[in-house]
Amino acid sequence: MKSTVEPIRQYELTTATGFSASVLNYGAILQSIKVPTESGLTEVLLGYQQPQTYLDDDAYMGAIAGRYCNRIADGLFTLSGKAYQLSINSGAHHLHGGTHGLSHKYWQLEQSSESSQSITLKTFSPDSEQGYPGNVQVEVTYTLQADNKLIIDMKATTDKITPFNLTGHAYFNLNTDHSSAINHHLKVYADKYLPIDDSGIPTGELLSVAKTPFDFRELSELSAHVNDDSPAVASQKGIDHNFVLNDQSESVTLAAELYSPQSGVHLKVHTNKPGLQIYTGNHLSGDFEPYQGVCLEPQYYPNSPNQSEFPECFLKPGDTYHHQIIYEFLNT
Ligand code: BGC
Repeated sequence: MKSTVEPIRQYELTTATGFSASVLNYGAILQSIKVPTESGLTEVLLGYQQPQTYLDDDAYMGAIAGRYCNRIADGLFTLSGKAYQLSINSGAHHLHGGTHGLSHKYWQLEQSSESSQSITLKTFSPDSEQGYPGNVQVEVTYTLQADNKLIIDMKATTDKITPFNLTGHAYFNLNTDHSSAINHHLKVYADKYLPIDDSGIPTGELLSVAKTPFDFRELSELSAHVNDDSPAVASQKGIDHNFVLNDQSESVTLAAELYSPQSGVHLKVHTNKPGLQIYTGNHLSGDFEPYQGVCLEPQYYPNSPNQSEFPECFLKPGDTYHHQIIYEFLNT
């Protein structure tokens, strides 16, 4: 019998030093990043060996999440007096673009560089898909640089105003043996965070991180934060919160650093978006253990379509959404 499942294609990017990445045409997934270190190449991402495994993955492992990553309360928002109902896939809410978001679509190869250091994938999301207005064209380019930087460049256009918010949902584990990432040290360039209700929806306040488990202003070990017994952390089984980045300009700036004392691998994440969701892999299961990977997800704030005081997340006809994420690995 002929299989109805399209095969997933895997593209390898590599530099002369061995710094390499693997990208799939399904979900524009970043399946692997290998970083050159003194002890050889270190795999710094959680990923599945078999591309087909991603078809049933509900952890958004390595994917580009959208059309609106993170949560929209009750999947509802209103634009020019018209209410839009999005698909509901996380409790009462819309998460990461819904039941069949961009993370669960096949993307087309637009171009790959002859030097194998860059690849562009594109996809199309028609008007009304998952409830969103507008025909949206999306393009994502992954580029490796010789100085151990991986650049994710995301662009999109629409023919109707629509909320739009993409992120890279890679789970980092910088330990050579991929043992729990709870030993990692994290620094976030944020003096404020967004408190949430138990279902993950921001209350609308921007609170200081001082004297809270969300104070990552200096590099500090994740375990103390994840195991904090305050209701804000315990209700999420760890960190699953959005941080208000200190630099709110549209220029690409340093947002966070992650470091493994076990391997010495040190990651810096840069972005031009105003928020950073830190998710400590609280619900990982199956092939992975809870806290085995850490997501550092630059984005607009969750539920922005319903919070007029949050930074503007609407993409308008004639404008181009542009989000750049840079993962920079320091020489160790
Ligand atoms: C969200 C989590 C969610 C996870 C997997 C993260 O980006 O913040 O709440 O469980 O993605 O879907």
